[in-house]
Amino acid sequence: MKYVIGNWKMNLGIRESIAMARVALRSLQGKEDVPVVVICPSATALSEVRKVVARTRIELGSQNIGPGKAGAYTGELGGTQLQDVGVTYAIIGHSERRQAGEDEAILPKRFAAAFEVGITPVLCVGEPAEIRAGSASAQYVREQVRRALKGVAVPRGKRFLVAYEPIFAIGTGTSASVPHTLEIIEHITAVLLELGFDDVPVLYGGSVNAQNVYSYLREPQISGVLVGSASVQPQEFPGIVASACDVMSAQKDI
Ligand code: PGA
Repeated sequence: MKYVIGNWKMNLGIRESIAMARVALRSLQGKEDVPVVVICPSATALSEVRKVVARTRIELGSQNIGPGKAGAYTGELGGTQLQDVGVTYAIIGHSERRQAGEDEAILPKRFAAAFEVGITPVLCVGEPAEIRAGSASAQYVREQVRRALKGVAVPRGKRFLVAYEPIFAIGTGTSASVPHTLEIIEHITAVLLELGFDDVPVLYGGSVNAQNVYSYLREPQISGVLVGSASVQPQEFPGIVASACDVMSAQKDI
Protein backbone atom coordinates (compact mmCIF):
# COMPACT_ATOMS: atom_id res chain seq x y z
CA MET A 1 0.00 0.00 0.00
CA LYS A 2 1.12 3.55 -0.71
CA TYR A 3 0.03 6.69 1.12
CA VAL A 4 -0.42 10.21 -0.21
CA ILE A 5 -0.93 12.70 2.59
CA GLY A 6 -1.66 16.34 1.81
CA ASN A 7 -0.65 18.79 4.53
CA TRP A 8 -2.45 22.02 3.74
CA LYS A 9 -0.70 23.87 6.58
CA MET A 10 -2.01 27.35 7.44
CA ASN A 11 -3.55 27.77 3.99
CA LEU A 12 -7.01 27.86 2.39
CA GLY A 13 -10.23 29.29 3.73
CA ILE A 14 -13.34 27.20 4.08
CA ARG A 15 -14.55 27.65 0.50
CA GLU A 16 -11.11 26.99 -0.97
CA SER A 17 -10.76 23.93 1.26
CA ILE A 18 -14.04 22.52 -0.03
CA ALA A 19 -12.87 23.10 -3.60
CA MET A 20 -9.50 21.45 -2.95
CA ALA A 21 -11.19 18.47 -1.28
CA ARG A 22 -13.29 18.06 -4.44
CA VAL A 23 -10.10 18.12 -6.52
CA ALA A 24 -8.68 15.34 -4.35
CA LEU A 25 -11.87 13.37 -4.68
CA ARG A 26 -11.91 13.71 -8.47
CA SER A 27 -8.31 12.51 -8.63
CA LEU A 28 -9.51 9.05 -7.51
CA GLN A 29 -12.48 8.89 -9.84
CA GLY A 30 -12.49 5.82 -12.05
CA LYS A 31 -9.31 4.47 -10.44
CA GLU A 32 -9.24 0.91 -9.21
CA ASP A 33 -5.93 0.54 -7.44
CA VAL A 34 -5.74 3.56 -5.23
CA PRO A 35 -3.37 4.64 -2.48
CA VAL A 36 -4.60 5.80 0.90
CA VAL A 37 -5.20 9.50 0.28
CA VAL A 38 -5.38 11.70 3.38
CA ILE A 39 -6.03 15.43 3.30
CA CYS A 40 -5.17 17.58 6.30
CA PRO A 41 -7.00 20.92 6.18
CA SER A 42 -6.79 23.62 8.81
CA ALA A 43 -8.95 22.99 11.85
CA THR A 44 -11.32 25.76 10.73
CA ALA A 45 -12.25 23.78 7.63
CA LEU A 46 -12.40 20.24 9.02
CA SER A 47 -16.15 20.01 9.44
CA GLU A 48 -16.94 21.40 5.98
CA VAL A 49 -14.32 19.23 4.30
CA ARG A 50 -15.72 16.25 6.13
CA LYS A 51 -19.03 16.76 4.32
CA VAL A 52 -17.19 16.45 0.99
CA VAL A 53 -15.15 13.37 1.84
CA ALA A 54 -17.53 11.43 4.09
CA ARG A 55 -18.19 7.94 2.72
CA THR A 56 -15.54 8.38 0.01
CA ARG A 57 -12.07 6.90 -0.35
CA ILE A 58 -10.47 10.11 0.95
CA GLU A 59 -9.44 10.13 4.61
CA LEU A 60 -9.56 13.22 6.76
CA GLY A 61 -6.41 14.18 8.65
CA SER A 62 -5.47 16.77 11.22
CA GLN A 63 -2.19 18.71 11.31
CA ASN A 64 -1.67 17.87 14.97
CA ILE A 65 -3.45 16.22 17.89
CA GLY A 66 -3.57 17.42 21.48
CA PRO A 67 -1.82 15.55 24.29
CA GLY A 68 -5.05 14.01 25.53
CA LYS A 69 -8.64 13.26 24.65
CA ALA A 70 -9.94 16.47 26.23
CA GLY A 71 -9.05 18.92 28.98
CA ALA A 72 -7.37 22.19 29.88
CA TYR A 73 -5.05 22.63 26.91
CA THR A 74 -5.70 26.03 25.34
CA GLY A 75 -5.06 26.04 21.61
CA GLU A 76 -4.91 22.26 21.18
CA LEU A 77 -7.41 19.94 19.50
CA GLY A 78 -8.38 17.00 21.69
CA GLY A 79 -8.58 13.44 20.42
CA THR A 80 -12.31 13.32 21.08
CA GLN A 81 -12.90 16.56 19.16
CA LEU A 82 -10.96 15.25 16.17
CA GLN A 83 -12.73 11.91 16.28
CA ASP A 84 -16.02 13.82 16.44
CA VAL A 85 -15.23 15.67 13.20
CA GLY A 86 -14.28 12.49 11.36
CA VAL A 87 -10.49 12.70 11.54
CA THR A 88 -8.72 9.36 11.08
CA TYR A 89 -5.06 10.46 10.73
CA ALA A 90 -3.05 13.09 12.62
CA ILE A 91 0.36 14.51 11.79
CA ILE A 92 2.55 14.88 14.88
CA GLY A 93 6.02 16.34 15.42
CA HIS A 94 6.07 18.31 12.17
CA SER A 95 9.27 20.35 11.89
CA GLU A 96 7.26 23.57 11.70
CA ARG A 97 5.79 22.76 15.13
CA ARG A 98 9.24 21.90 16.45
CA GLN A 99 10.64 25.17 15.07
CA ALA A 100 7.79 27.00 16.78
CA GLY A 101 9.16 25.66 20.06
CA GLU A 102 7.12 22.51 20.57
CA ASP A 103 8.94 20.21 22.95
CA GLU A 104 9.47 16.64 21.78
CA ALA A 105 8.60 15.42 25.26
CA ILE A 106 4.92 15.94 24.41
CA LEU A 107 4.98 13.56 21.44
CA PRO A 108 4.38 10.31 23.37
CA LYS A 109 1.26 11.96 24.83
CA ARG A 110 0.05 12.86 21.37
CA PHE A 111 0.59 9.24 20.30
CA ALA A 112 -1.41 8.02 23.27
CA ALA A 113 -4.28 10.45 22.58
CA ALA A 114 -4.45 9.32 18.96
CA PHE A 115 -4.46 5.63 19.83
CA GLU A 116 -7.13 6.17 22.46
CA VAL A 117 -9.60 7.49 19.88
CA GLY A 118 -8.57 5.31 16.95
CA ILE A 119 -6.68 7.99 15.00
CA THR A 120 -3.52 6.91 13.16
CA PRO A 121 -0.57 9.16 14.10
CA VAL A 122 1.93 10.20 11.42
CA LEU A 123 5.21 11.04 13.15
CA CYS A 124 7.45 13.49 11.28
CA VAL A 125 11.21 13.40 11.70
CA GLY A 126 14.04 14.94 9.71
CA GLU A 127 17.34 16.71 10.03
CA PRO A 128 18.33 20.31 9.28
CA ALA A 129 20.87 21.23 6.57
CA GLU A 130 23.81 21.59 8.95
CA ILE A 131 23.37 18.06 10.26
CA ARG A 132 23.16 16.76 6.69
CA ALA A 133 26.30 18.73 5.81
CA GLY A 134 28.12 17.12 8.71
CA SER A 135 27.01 13.64 7.58
CA ALA A 136 25.27 13.13 10.91
CA SER A 137 21.75 12.62 9.50
CA ALA A 138 21.30 8.97 10.44
CA GLN A 139 22.24 9.43 14.09
CA TYR A 140 20.12 12.59 14.39
CA VAL A 141 17.00 11.00 12.93
CA ARG A 142 17.46 7.78 14.91
CA GLU A 143 17.49 9.81 18.13
CA GLN A 144 14.39 11.75 17.08
CA VAL A 145 12.51 8.50 16.53
CA ARG A 146 13.65 7.13 19.90
CA ARG A 147 12.62 10.25 21.81
CA ALA A 148 9.22 10.55 20.12
CA LEU A 149 8.36 6.93 20.86
CA LYS A 150 9.64 6.91 24.44
CA GLY A 151 7.24 4.77 26.42
CA VAL A 152 4.76 4.53 23.54
CA ALA A 153 2.80 1.29 23.40
CA VAL A 154 0.82 0.58 20.27
CA PRO A 155 -2.47 -1.06 21.22
CA ARG A 156 -3.41 -4.23 19.40
CA GLY A 157 -4.91 -3.48 16.00
CA LYS A 158 -3.60 0.10 15.96
CA ARG A 159 -0.69 1.43 13.97
CA PHE A 160 1.29 4.53 13.15
CA LEU A 161 3.24 5.94 10.22
CA VAL A 162 6.54 7.79 10.07
CA ALA A 163 7.32 10.54 7.56
CA TYR A 164 10.95 11.31 6.87
CA GLU A 165 10.94 15.03 6.15
CA PRO A 166 14.41 16.58 6.04
CA ILE A 167 14.10 20.24 6.98
CA PHE A 168 16.34 21.36 4.12
CA ALA A 169 13.80 19.93 1.69
CA ILE A 170 10.59 21.32 3.20
CA GLY A 171 9.16 24.21 1.24
CA THR A 172 12.48 24.86 -0.51
CA GLY A 173 11.75 23.39 -3.93
CA THR A 174 14.79 21.13 -3.49
CA SER A 175 13.79 17.64 -2.47
CA ALA A 176 16.19 15.20 -0.82
CA SER A 177 17.85 12.78 -3.22
CA VAL A 178 16.33 9.33 -3.48
CA PRO A 179 19.58 7.60 -2.34
CA HIS A 180 19.78 9.83 0.76
CA THR A 181 16.11 9.21 1.49
CA LEU A 182 16.54 5.45 1.16
CA GLU A 183 19.59 5.50 3.41
CA ILE A 184 17.78 7.37 6.18
CA ILE A 185 14.61 5.31 5.80
CA GLU A 186 16.73 2.19 6.30
CA HIS A 187 17.95 3.68 9.59
CA ILE A 188 14.41 4.64 10.62
CA THR A 189 13.17 1.13 9.92
CA ALA A 190 16.11 -0.32 11.86
CA VAL A 191 15.51 1.84 14.92
CA LEU A 192 11.79 1.07 14.81
CA LEU A 193 12.64 -2.63 14.83
CA GLU A 194 15.02 -2.14 17.75
CA LEU A 195 12.10 -0.54 19.59
CA GLY A 196 9.86 -3.47 18.72
CA PHE A 197 7.79 -1.90 15.95
CA ASP A 198 7.69 -3.75 12.67
CA ASP A 199 5.75 -3.11 9.48
CA VAL A 200 5.64 0.65 10.05
CA PRO A 201 5.13 2.45 6.73
CA VAL A 202 7.77 5.17 6.24
CA LEU A 203 6.93 8.05 3.91
CA TYR A 204 9.04 10.78 2.36
CA GLY A 205 8.17 14.48 2.49
CA GLY A 206 9.85 17.66 1.32
CA SER A 207 9.18 19.50 -1.96
CA VAL A 208 7.33 16.57 -3.48
CA ASN A 209 5.50 17.51 -6.69
CA ALA A 210 3.83 15.81 -9.64
CA GLN A 211 7.17 15.64 -11.49
CA ASN A 212 9.37 14.06 -8.84
CA VAL A 213 6.86 11.94 -6.92
CA TYR A 214 7.26 8.80 -9.00
CA SER A 215 10.99 8.57 -8.24
CA TYR A 216 10.08 8.13 -4.55
CA LEU A 217 6.94 6.06 -4.86
CA ARG A 218 8.50 3.46 -7.12
CA GLU A 219 10.89 2.49 -4.31
CA PRO A 220 9.33 -0.33 -2.26
CA GLN A 221 10.95 1.01 0.93
CA ILE A 222 9.17 4.37 0.51
CA SER A 223 5.55 3.77 1.49
CA GLY A 224 4.25 7.11 0.32
CA VAL A 225 4.62 10.86 0.40
CA LEU A 226 3.68 13.72 2.69
CA VAL A 227 3.03 16.71 0.47
CA GLY A 228 2.83 20.36 1.53
CA SER A 229 2.72 23.11 -1.09
CA ALA A 230 1.77 20.87 -4.00
CA SER A 231 -1.18 19.50 -2.01
CA VAL A 232 -3.02 22.83 -2.21
CA GLN A 233 -2.38 23.26 -5.93
CA PRO A 234 -5.23 21.89 -8.05
CA GLN A 235 -2.87 21.43 -11.00
CA GLU A 236 -0.32 19.41 -8.95
CA PHE A 237 -2.14 17.19 -6.48
CA PRO A 238 -4.06 15.06 -9.02
CA GLY A 239 -0.76 14.25 -10.78
CA ILE A 240 0.70 13.06 -7.48
CA VAL A 241 -2.30 10.84 -6.80
CA ALA A 242 -2.19 9.53 -10.39
CA SER A 243 1.47 8.50 -9.95
CA ALA A 244 0.60 6.67 -6.76
CA CYS A 245 -2.25 4.88 -8.56
CA ASP A 246 0.18 3.85 -11.33
CA VAL A 247 2.60 2.43 -8.79
CA MET A 248 -0.23 0.62 -7.05
CA SER A 249 -1.43 -1.05 -10.25
CA ALA A 250 2.12 -1.94 -11.28
CA GLN A 251 2.67 -3.59 -7.90
CA LYS A 252 -0.51 -5.59 -8.31
CA ASP A 253 0.85 -7.06 -11.54
CA ILE A 254 4.01 -8.36 -9.86
P1 PGA B 1 6.47 20.86 1.12
O1 PGA B 1 6.07 20.53 2.64
O2 PGA B 1 5.90 19.77 0.27
O3 PGA B 1 5.88 22.19 0.85
O4 PGA B 1 7.96 20.85 1.07
C1 PGA B 1 6.07 19.22 3.13
C2 PGA B 1 5.63 19.21 4.56
O5 PGA B 1 6.01 20.11 5.32
O6 PGA B 1 4.90 18.31 5.00
